[in-house]
Amino acid sequence: MAAFKTLDTIGNVSGKRVLVRVDLNVPVSDGKVTDATRIERVAPTITELAGKGAKVILLAHFGRPKEGPDPALSLAPIATATAEVIGRPVGFAANCIGEKAAAAVGAMKDGDILLLENTRFYKAEEKNDPAFVEQLAANGDIFVNDAFSAAHRAHASTEGLAHKLPAFAGRTMQAELEALEKGLGNPVKPVVAIVGGAKVSSKIDLLMNLVKKVDALVIGGGMANTFIAARGTDVGKSLCEHDLAPTAKQIMIEAAQAGCAIILPSDGVVAREFKAGAANEVVAIDAVPADAMILDVGPKTVATVNDWIDRAATLVWNGPLGAFEIEPFDKATVATAQHAAARTKAGKLVSVAGGGDTVAALNHAGVADDFSYVSTAGGAFLEWMEGKELPGVEVLKA
Ligand code: 3PG
Repeated sequence: MAAFKTLDTIGNVSGKRVLVRVDLNVPVSDGKVTDATRIERVAPTITELAGKGAKVILLAHFGRPKEGPDPALSLAPIATATAEVIGRPVGFAANCIGEKAAAAVGAMKDGDILLLENTRFYKAEEKNDPAFVEQLAANGDIFVNDAFSAAHRAHASTEGLAHKLPAFAGRTMQAELEALEKGLGNPVKPVVAIVGGAKVSSKIDLLMNLVKKVDALVIGGGMANTFIAARGTDVGKSLCEHDLAPTAKQIMIEAAQAGCAIILPSDGVVAREFKAGAANEVVAIDAVPADAMILDVGPKTVATVNDWIDRAATLVWNGPLGAFEIEPFDKATVATAQHAAARTKAGKLVSVAGGGDTVAALNHAGVADDFSYVSTAGGAFLEWMEGKELPGVEVLKA
């Protein structure tokens, strides 16, 4: 793996103003954070730097404000949630640049923590505008990026600042890069990938890249239907992107050329309604009734997938195998996740998972803590799996 500058080489930070880019883009309902995982992930970097006497100045975005400041997307409530997670006071400045930010930073003592307001309240953030980078940099001596999940954005606070100030990867960024390296960069073979989710259209680049890198690719979820239909099998009323049949065929051809086995469902759980508890039955994949839809892969498929997991040394997982958010169509995802978790716990498997739905699915299966690494990144994880360079990561290379 390319070497990254980490906190191990940051030197003496005591009394220094360290701008730390974190991802605090967390789910909030009625002003309360409903899932603090991302805050928990960046806590070690914050406490390490504060513990070494740095003035820790947090930069983050929240949501996608359209035009200028939007009170509904203020980071103020998240400063409170961050303080609760790390067990220390976290100050808040109502602007990320200008006088308010400068005054709040100027009042900091060594070891203090301050969160600046949403960087995306300025369009210049997303444009990576040099003048805006300059204004952000005015409040720091050192830049630490701990926001892997925002590293696919070449924004002022994720990329621009790293050119302006001495730049280092935070502990979460470091853990994420190390885990991804083990998962796909330089994995122990054989490598099996599981890709699920609703649509092929959102994951074409991912599938094209994976077939060149892994030994076996399990395709599940709604997207499997497109592959099954492309082979000429009727999928009834199932979700299916028929127009992508040529793409699905191309992916299968490229897999064959690269020696990657493609594992498609051999049976499915079908229902007539998309709702929890809908009457359902297991059918062979070539016997889906014309008025039914596939909502999960069936038990034979689960056995096959688990068999592949047993043969794998490394597993990368993105996307659920079925409509896991409505029972009982969560069964295959839960069974497979639990199997992968057990293999991981037994020391037989390195398992790396990521993507919004995937994390929710692993939490639902109760095994998120048993995987080797679960990335909280959505878009960044996908782009990394697609083999793309992430600007926020590239700029941290030593
Ligand atoms: C995320 O939630 O995936 C990251 O915070 C990036 O957010 P964005 O897609 O709005 O850039």
